[in-house]
Amino acid sequence: MSAAAPAFLEVSDLRIGFPGRAGDVPVVHGVDFALSAGETLALVGESGSGKSLTALSLIDLLPGGARRLGGRIRIGENQLDTLSSNAIRKIRGGEIAMIFQDPLSALNPAFTVGRQLTDAIRSHHPLSRGAAAKRAEELLDLVGIPSPKARLHSFPHEMSGGQRQRVAIALALASGPKLLIADEPTTALDVTVQAQIMALLARLRQELGLAILLISHNLDLVAEICHRVAVMYAGRIVETNTVEEIFRRPQHPYTRMLLDCIPRLDDRPGPLATIPGEPPLFGKLPSGCPFRPRCPAAHERCLAMPPAFPQEAGQAACWLAA
Ligand SMILES: Nc1ncnc2c1ncn2[C@@H]1O[C@H](COP(=O)(O)OP(=O)(O)OP(=O)(O)O)[C@@H](O)[C@H]1O
Ligand code: SF4
Ligand SMILES: [Mg+2]
Repeated sequence: MSAAAPAFLEVSDLRIGFPGRAGDVPVVHGVDFALSAGETLALVGESGSGKSLTALSLIDLLPGGARRLGGRIRIGENQLDTLSSNAIRKIRGGEIAMIFQDPLSALNPAFTVGRQLTDAIRSHHPLSRGAAAKRAEELLDLVGIPSPKARLHSFPHEMSGGQRQRVAIALALASGPKLLIADEPTTALDVTVQAQIMALLARLRQELGLAILLISHNLDLVAEICHRVAVMYAGRIVETNTVEEIFRRPQHPYTRMLLDCIPRLDDRPGPLATIPGEPPLFGKLPSGCPFRPRCPAAHERCLAMPPAFPQEAGQAACWLAA
């Protein structure tokens, strides 16, 4: 990866909310990040921090009621926030693909893997059925499915969870996307298969020059394949840095506490560390720093919101790091 490569995806001041009785209730509050071709950025944070909403807004697939309240999203040459839903749908089908925790959500149980792949390929490329079947076989091979020609005739239920996720990835690659968004793609799989799918994503990034936005709870797992990490808390990115620096010198108390929760082989037996308290409830942020009620380092100054931080290495949304 070249550090100077221009960003393929640029998100600035992204705000997302749900309608409330007294107007929109913001849940994502001004998210900024950038992602270059051939780079993997991990978006990590506890449940409810806004990771999926951030990702879904990039493909204009926010869940019912949610809407983008502001901000700019540039993908390649396209400024998404200025385009119609129809125009965004075309970009979504071509340049951007997404995979989810449950591969079955992307696969149709009634059709063979080959049929689904050839249909997807032909919807993007003007190929005969035979040429599309050949391409489908190549895609299955690319994602590491053994005997790909024979597996074209399998139905999703005839495959293991890990194989189904590989097929869902092959399906996502059918259009030849430049950006792959993976929302918790391994959470439903056992530990060995999780590592295999992560290794596959790393290989695809390298071989195809994909930009990958990887959403995960699991900092340990993302460390294996990501270049940079953005840590989200209560709808904000509170720290961004290279994966090495996040592990070596975390700046934000929340990042430090997330890292402390990773089980380590050399740990003495005992209960696993957890972050005390709960993230703020939907639409109910505390005054000042949103992490204040759970932060062991909170002090008087934290009653005011820490200043927004530039998206540069080694900065964090915390008075102590400012
Ligand atoms: N359909 C919805 N209706 C109302 N609120 C929602 C809906 N989807 C998400 N939210 C709220 O938006 C916030 C962010 O949700 P989001 O799904 O982005 O979190 P997440 O970080 O992806 O969590 P998880 O790790 O559990 O997937 C949460 O507080 C959640 O309560
Ligand atoms: S600003 Fe204060 S409360 Fe917030 S994370 Fe930093 S020290 Fe903790
Ligand atoms: Mg989510």
